[in-house]
Amino acid sequence: MKGSQLRQAAHAIDPIFIDRWSPRAMSGAALSLDELMVLFEAARWAPSASNLQPWRMLYALRTSPHWSMFLGLLSDANRVWAQHGGALVAFISKNTRDDGRPAPTHAFDTGAAWENFALQASMRNLVVHGMQGFDHLRAPTELKLPPDFDIHAMVVVGKPGEVAMLPENLRAREQPSDRRPLHDSVCEGPFGF
Ligand SMILES: Cc1cc2nc3c(=O)[nH]c(=O)nc-3n(C[C@H](O)[C@H](O)[C@H](O)COP(=O)(O)O)c2cc1C
Repeated sequence: MKGSQLRQAAHAIDPIFIDRWSPRAMSGAALSLDELMVLFEAARWAPSASNLQPWRMLYALRTSPHWSMFLGLLSDANRVWAQHGGALVAFISKNTRDDGRPAPTHAFDTGAAWENFALQASMRNLVVHGMQGFDHLRAPTELKLPPDFDIHAMVVVGKPGEVAMLPENLRAREQPSDRRPLHDSVCEGPFGF
């Protein structure tokens, strides 16, 4: 289902923004490396401060030996549905510049890369769902992150599946969510919320 079937934008935006949402129902079908690379390619073209491209993406296809380690990092609540995905991706970023100085926008830039990735997945009719529910202590170790890299989120990508396959408590939540009104997020001039 496209998000625009149930969502209403308040201004005349392109439908890609409301079409993307975060389903959980996935079929368990494999994802090909080619399908995944298209999403990484979209992420690659994100803007970043000084074009540093601080993002890195670590992935495991469900057919790969790394799949069980990636899946094992997820919280139980996420694993119950994410296990039916075709690929898991860890979005990480380098928090320093090459000269060792801090890179203050590394997380902001990597968020842009993730959104490119997600929009491209949505346009390909794939499920894409970000997850902060993973073991934040074990992930840097098991993914062998160097000390100047931070992990932001794990993401599952998969082929759409039947809602009936989800645990009962998740079935009612399987629909595009709304947003607060724009004036609660935007104000002219200094902070005025
Ligand atoms: C960084 C990030 C972390 C998230 N973590 C989780 C998570 O751990 N589990 C989950 O079910 N959904 C998670 N979500 C999905 C959000 O709840 C979802 O994006 C939000 O409710 C807006 O809904 P929409 O993506 O369908 O538009 C996460 C999303 C993002 C961007």
